[in-house]
Amino acid sequence: MRIVKFNYREVIDQVLQEMNFDRAVCLDATCGNGHDSLNIIKRLDKNGFLYCTDIQDLAIENTDDLLKEAGYKNYKIIKKSHDLFADEIEESFRLVIFNLGYLPGSDKEIVTRAETTIKAIDSLIKKLDKDGVIIVVSYLGHPNSKEERESLDKYLKNLSQKDFLVEKRQFYNQVNNPPIVYLIGVR
Ligand SMILES: C[S@@+](CC[C@H](N)C(=O)[O-])C[C@H]1O[C@@H](n2cnc3c(N)ncnc32)[C@H](O)[C@@H]1O
Repeated sequence: MRIVKFNYREVIDQVLQEMNFDRAVCLDATCGNGHDSLNIIKRLDKNGFLYCTDIQDLAIENTDDLLKEAGYKNYKIIKKSHDLFADEIEESFRLVIFNLGYLPGSDKEIVTRAETTIKAIDSLIKKLDKDGVIIVVSYLGHPNSKEERESLDKYLKNLSQKDFLVEKRQFYNQVNNPPIVYLIGVR
C-alpha cells in the first residue's frame, strides 16, 4: 500500500490494519450500504462484535443483506439516530466509524447534521476503549455540510489534549473538496 494515501478508504484501511481487534466491540454509526461495516467485521475475531446504526430502513436492509450474504452473524443492526446510541449498550467500543452525509443512491435530503453528529461523537467518545479509535469521514456538498464541517472542526480542535488525540487527514492538493478524515483516540 502506498505511504501517502490517495483517498479516505486507504486511510481507513491503514488505521484498521494497525488496530488490535482482539475481543473488540465496534460500532458503525452510519451504516448506509454496509461497506464500512463489512470492512470492519472481516477483521474481528470470534469474540468480536459489530453494532450498526442508521436512521433509514433502506440502510438497515442493505447492511443486513451485505453482512448476511458474507456469512457473518456477530452483528446487530439497530435503527436509531447515532446521538442516542451511547446508552443503548453497556460495552465500550474499540472502534466507532462515522461516514457522514447521505446514503449513496438514495434520498439526498436525509443527511447527517452538525448538532446530532457532535452530540453522537461527544457521547460515544466517553465509551471508547483505552486503545480505541473514532474515525469520522466528513464531506462537503450535501445540505448543511459546511455547517457540519465547521462545527465538527471546532469541536474536535477544542477537545482536551490532556485526554484525547485528534488527527486530521486531508488530501491537500486534490480538487473538488475531497473528504477529510478525522481520527480520535484516547490519550
Ligand atoms: C455516507 S452514508 C454512510 C455510508 C456507509 N457507511 C457505507 O459504507 O455504505 C451516511 C449515512 O448516514 C445516515 N444517517 C444520517 N443521519 C443519521 C443519524 N442521525 N444517525 C445515524 N445515521 C444517520 C444516512 O441515513 C446514511 O445512510
